[in-house]
Amino acid sequence: MARILGIETSCDETSAAVLEGSGDSVTQRSLVILSQDVHRVFGGVVPEIASRAHLTSIVPVVSRALDDANTSLDNVDAIAVTYAPGLIGALLVGVCYAKSLAFARGIPVIPVHHMEGHIFATSLEYPEARPPFTALLVSGGHTMLLDVESWGRYRLLGATRDDAAGEAFDKVAKLLGLPYPGGRPIEMLAREGDPSRYRFSRPMVRTNDSPGDPDYYAFSFSGLKTAVLNAVKAMPAAAADGDDHKIRADIARGFQDALIGSLVEKTFRAADAFARTCIVLGGGVACNGALVAAMKQRVAEIDANVYAPPPRLATDNAAMIARAGLYHYYQGERGTLDLNAFPSRPLPGLIAA
Ligand code: KG4
Ligand code: ZN
Repeated sequence: MARILGIETSCDETSAAVLEGSGDSVTQRSLVILSQDVHRVFGGVVPEIASRAHLTSIVPVVSRALDDANTSLDNVDAIAVTYAPGLIGALLVGVCYAKSLAFARGIPVIPVHHMEGHIFATSLEYPEARPPFTALLVSGGHTMLLDVESWGRYRLLGATRDDAAGEAFDKVAKLLGLPYPGGRPIEMLAREGDPSRYRFSRPMVRTNDSPGDPDYYAFSFSGLKTAVLNAVKAMPAAAADGDDHKIRADIARGFQDALIGSLVEKTFRAADAFARTCIVLGGGVACNGALVAAMKQRVAEIDANVYAPPPRLATDNAAMIARAGLYHYYQGERGTLDLNAFPSRPLPGLIAA
């Protein structure tokens, strides 16, 4: 059994976790996530501020994770760290710190791709969420549909052609005067909305799509965002306060239904095509209850189970990095001390779709 310290600093969460286990038998011993709320003031993540905040919090966050796990670096077998993709300055803080610790302790550092972490995250809560499965990863920076044949073997079926799903939530929230990050506020507002008032079409979904089409599994959300912008501009300027709120709720509902409709349909196509009965969601947008409910409903006809991670494992966290690191540790993979960070990098283990 190995004990892994995970470190994640790719965006605006400084996170560390301790995990132990082997194979698919894994116990999460601790998880500390320090979210950088400062970015709310700016309506988006400011890279330099993020890097500096990681620098001040990385040491206390890691020691807290070790304390919470009732352990120390003397009892850690390897350090898993996110090396890509993400904000380069932010990633470098985690990578440099992980390498320094590993060097000082004479233990290996294991580089982990952030999106592979998201693929593993849900299995920490639901051990049944293991391959083979269809994975839908939807975050502020990424939208990926994958067929996961086994850990480490990934078929990338579709990705977004423009904005990520979470980015679309955040941009539409701004148009509707809601705070950043906008996913949760939109979900709340949409609950009050009338689904029949704004019927935006589901992006990239046509009834006559066929599996060979290049867009069969692809996503696109910028057109939907423009449709929302036009709807906001067309709102009656003199609407009384109550009416204004109602119209915004209706728009939020129309937007969310269309976006979810697209995510659900493409995921259904992938599960159906590969005869998968396990569907695993990941990334911050997987916190959306309407998405999870719609997904369960759509895949009922193929008897598939849908697993959505709890919020702490859906958004960026180091437990998922430690989990993916544990897998690579047992594959015999080791990073070297010239390990670098990269703003973008293809997911490792890709196989032909
Ligand atoms: O995975 P994550 O924490 O960070 C990235 O790697 O991007 O995802 C953050 C994204 C944000 O765009 C946020 O608006 C979205 O997840 N999000 C949601 C919900 N909660 C967070 N989107 C829709 N509904 C939610 N309930
Ligand atoms: Zn993420």
